[in-house]
Amino acid sequence: MPGTCVVGLQWGDEAKGKIVDLLGDGFDFVVRYNGGANAGHTVVANGKTFKLSLLPTGVIRPNVRSVIGNGVVVYPPRFLEEVEMLRQGGIDLSQSLKVSDHAHVIFPYHMEEERHAESGAEGKIGTTGRGIGPCYQDKVGRRYGVRVGELLYEAHLRERLRVIVPFKNRLMTALANGHADALKPFDAGRIADEYLGYAAVIRPYVTDTARLLHDAFRDGKRVLFEAAQGSLLDVDHGTYPYVTSSSSLPSGIWGGSGVPAKHVQRVIGVVKAYTTRVGQGPFPTELDDGPTGTGERIRRIGREYGTVTGRPRRVGWFDALAVRYTAALAGADEITVMLLDVLSGLPELKLCTAYDIDGERTAHFPSDSFRLERCKPVYETMPGWADDITTAHKLTDLPAAARRYIDRVQELVGLRVSVVSVGPDRAQTIMV
Ligand code: IMP
Repeated sequence: MPGTCVVGLQWGDEAKGKIVDLLGDGFDFVVRYNGGANAGHTVVANGKTFKLSLLPTGVIRPNVRSVIGNGVVVYPPRFLEEVEMLRQGGIDLSQSLKVSDHAHVIFPYHMEEERHAESGAEGKIGTTGRGIGPCYQDKVGRRYGVRVGELLYEAHLRERLRVIVPFKNRLMTALANGHADALKPFDAGRIADEYLGYAAVIRPYVTDTARLLHDAFRDGKRVLFEAAQGSLLDVDHGTYPYVTSSSSLPSGIWGGSGVPAKHVQRVIGVVKAYTTRVGQGPFPTELDDGPTGTGERIRRIGREYGTVTGRPRRVGWFDALAVRYTAALAGADEITVMLLDVLSGLPELKLCTAYDIDGERTAHFPSDSFRLERCKPVYETMPGWADDITTAHKLTDLPAAARRYIDRVQELVGLRVSVVSVGPDRAQTIMV
């Protein structure tokens, strides 16, 4: 398989990193094509734990080359921090990591813009606060976007910032809405000095990554694309406007890395055995049942707190409509069901099989948030299991109720379940 994509089919945090890890040494390249330091994954290598948000999880594998594609937005200090953290942990990326000269750069004013946009009670998206949205706005708006390759030309960068920063200061003053005293204007010269400092260190990593990947495919290399966030956060097909600002579905690969879709021959869709979501937006199967309820129990056992922001994740039942919808958009060939062990001990489990909306029943997922908000979930109830399943190695080790649950998920989504995960460890995995 020359090109494989691992993609989350819910609202992110589906434990995609574990699937990448299980794919093991079957890859020569690992590529991120969307998002920025808003993704969060914990990876273990050389007996040490690393928390990454910008670099792909596959970066820790020896002999694998990593690529940050043009579709990613890069905050240089974070990039350097992660590279340095790994270096101190014995993983040297100086030869193996490349970042696209066309990836866009996040500046401090992007974070500030986001802070203003998210500070009102209304219109809040519940973002990660990493400047992702404002940076993509500048990319698409064209006038004020800066790409990684531009950091390498001092005179050019200074001139760009000389034009951009005064505009951003005017914008910030307007956003501050009369509280301009509190506003500390950004200084173009100072930002240029700071970013030229980063550029000096980043320079050897910067290249035309599209060409690098074209050569890789020509030479028969195997390439793994790691989607960041989840498919329901995709800017086009997700629960707009409560989404991220990039294409997190595999459709983002072509634009975000320059690799034509025909090279991607296997798409692995990753789902949790239940659902979680961080930030605002409708969530029909949410379990909002208080501190002693099932939602809190799943949150506690599943350790459902954001890796980037530490926010408690919202928790709910598995939504088969949502996953069927994203699996179709992703072109998923199979699904992997993660964190099944978290459901152990619950007397019964629910699977959402339809919605009631304005007096009508539908089996199709309406992705517009304003319609999704009005959907009431229709559940099928299944018996739970009391047994601990964290040592199961094959499907037949699972209690009958857990097997029935997996079978039903498979039927409802219409795709083969290829992996069931019953714990964080590599050994706690059932290959079906
Ligand atoms: P942004 O990507 O920071 O602009 O945030 C937009 C929405 O996407 C918010 O609801 C975030 O909580 C959510 N989000 C962004 N990245 C992730 C992720 O990696 N996992 C889960 N949710 C995410």
